[in-house]
Amino acid sequence: MKTRILVVEDEHDTLELMAEVFEKKGYIVEKASNGIEALRAIKVNEPDIILSDIFMPGMNGMELLDNLSKEYAHIPVIMVTAYGTIDNAVEAMKLGAKDYITKPLRFEELTAKVERITQLSSLIKENEFLLNKLQQKYDFTNIIGKTAKIKDLLELVRDVAVTNATVLIRGESGTGKELIANAIHYNSQRMKRPFIKVNCAVLAESLLESELFGHVKGAFTGAIKDKVGRFELANGGTLFLDEIGDISLKMQSQLLRVLQYGEFERVGGTETMKVDVRIIAATNKNLEEAMEKGEFRQDLFYRLNVIPITVPPLRERREDIQYLVSHFIEKFNKIYGKNIREITPKAMSILKNYDYPGNIRELENLIERIVVLNRGEVIDVNNLPAIVPSGSQENGHLNTEGGLTQAVEEFERKLILQALEENGYNKVQTAKALKINRSTFNSKLKKYNIN
Ligand SMILES: Nc1ncnc2c1ncn2[C@@H]1O[C@H](COP(=O)(O)OP(=O)(O)OP(=O)(O)O)[C@@H](O)[C@H]1O
Ligand SMILES: [Mg+2]
Repeated sequence: MKTRILVVEDEHDTLELMAEVFEKKGYIVEKASNGIEALRAIKVNEPDIILSDIFMPGMNGMELLDNLSKEYAHIPVIMVTAYGTIDNAVEAMKLGAKDYITKPLRFEELTAKVERITQLSSLIKENEFLLNKLQQKYDFTNIIGKTAKIKDLLELVRDVAVTNATVLIRGESGTGKELIANAIHYNSQRMKRPFIKVNCAVLAESLLESELFGHVKGAFTGAIKDKVGRFELANGGTLFLDEIGDISLKMQSQLLRVLQYGEFERVGGTETMKVDVRIIAATNKNLEEAMEKGEFRQDLFYRLNVIPITVPPLRERREDIQYLVSHFIEKFNKIYGKNIREITPKAMSILKNYDYPGNIRELENLIERIVVLNRGEVIDVNNLPAIVPSGSQENGHLNTEGGLTQAVEEFERKLILQALEENGYNKVQTAKALKINRSTFNSKLKKYNIN
């Protein structure tokens, strides 16, 4: 896109000359011969940058600046002033002008200044645009879920986001831990500052240390220059320590020190660095067990676990599956240019009945595959890949984690869903098939949130 420049100058020849210079450089040029004309032009069409003389009849450059400071403070202004009146230029900078240039004009200097400032402001605009997109992406409305479990969780996340407290997010693989970490940062006061992520599991101990704390040149073979660590990069912002359960005991003690005092040294360095970083950590490991075995420091655990957030597995909030399915169908329709509008109740019932060991990531991948392979507008049972076992427990293996009551309830729920499916979703027939009376059946439907 071409840059629009507004040139404000009362000397007709100078104005024409400047206009010509910028037109040749590819700018769209607007002209005004005093402040009042300038304001009128700005109202019609906002320029990207303004170049204004100071002394002009009518409304002078200073008054123009003053007028712009309310509604149009975002438009950069460069003042042009006669040699010997630099005091005015300094005054103009105080009023918000970005720069000044003295007459007689040297066009190279003038265009260089204009270019530098337009580049800078387009970077700022781009940055704001990107930040805005990230904020939209990590808006709470994009975290899907209507069950009480997820609603409570999101309420907690919302409350916690605005504080500076350290957060420990726990949950099985694919439950949305990273999504929540992002949501916390982009809804916090630190949202305009960096969000830096480190996956602690993928780096060997020595690499992780220099990744987190940086190193000085010559600290070890291969350290050919100074390196800034993630803690420094995250200064003022948030550091997301993913897979925190996988770090060595040595790294744990180093981390503990940063968490306690906010200080550390670069690897091989002597200078103590101080940073202001908010920590969000995540893991799918059982840290209690790791602590018992002496593999995870208790003191570090308490430092991290200030605000514990546990994301429930998908099989414990099956009512969310339907909303997630619609969300992902919409998402992949867009990405792959498809037009899937419907999913049959039978297909949905199979999706709702599957256990998703890989949680939401698994469901998302599944829907992606279904959308890609589907030629029509409807998803039916025969469009589901073979990996979704239809309506039964996988391999007859039952989950005993939640104890007997939960396991029995789970079994009962699946049985009811299966019977419903077999009886064409007719309640009277299904209750008969299960040999229970209508009211018991209805109360069970209510209990398991089946409708
Ligand atoms: N409630 C949700 N609504 C919409 N999408 C979700 C939700 N939860 C998770 N997802 C999506 O599921 C995928 C997996 O989420 P994420 O990477 O945050 O999981 P994780 O818990 O960090 O997994 P892992 O333990 O494997 O690192 C992502 O694409 C994420 O956007
Ligand atoms: Mg993750």
